[in-house]
Amino acid sequence: MSLRLLEQLTRAWKNGWSAADLGTGTGVLAFAAKRFGAQSVVGIDIDPTAISTAKANARLNRIDGVNFHLADVRKWNPAHATDVIAANLFSDLLIEILPNFKRSGWLILSGIVRTQEGQLIAALRRTKLNVVRVKRRGKWITILARGSVGL
Ligand SMILES: C[S@@+](CC[C@H](N)C(=O)[O-])C[C@H]1O[C@@H](n2cnc3c(N)ncnc32)[C@H](O)[C@@H]1O
Repeated sequence: MSLRLLEQLTRAWKNGWSAADLGTGTGVLAFAAKRFGAQSVVGIDIDPTAISTAKANARLNRIDGVNFHLADVRKWNPAHATDVIAANLFSDLLIEILPNFKRSGWLILSGIVRTQEGQLIAALRRTKLNVVRVKRRGKWITILARGSVGL
């Protein structure tokens, strides 16, 4: 669902936008952002194996220009606003880090089970992030939301 939303959202964007993939795992969303035209892409994960796998995948697939960092997303504090942030993380962690996204553009939030939808939406509203769309599949939901900046 995140990949589809990322593609739909950025389809008409001109190259040069920035993306962050928080909890990047194997790097799939970061690579997709690059392929869809992002200029600057960062992938963050707290797991060293995830970061080394993502870097190896970049080499295997000959994808340059994605910066993978071993870090805790709770401490991620970019110097510039990011046009689109994808975060596939547990709801509690998403809620904790939402205030850091106020100065960002679009958010694609996943890893959320349906029973936590209300909690997540309330947290987004408290943080003055606008919910644009909620996609539901099985027990999972993905939320497209918007901060105050960007395209
Ligand atoms: C469900 S996987 C998502 C993988 C990939 N982004 C995807 O969509 O398929 C969640 C990832 O978040 C990472 N993660 C969990 N807590 C984190 C934290 N506090 N900071 C950074 N990464 C974290 C995990 O190591 C894991 O790789």
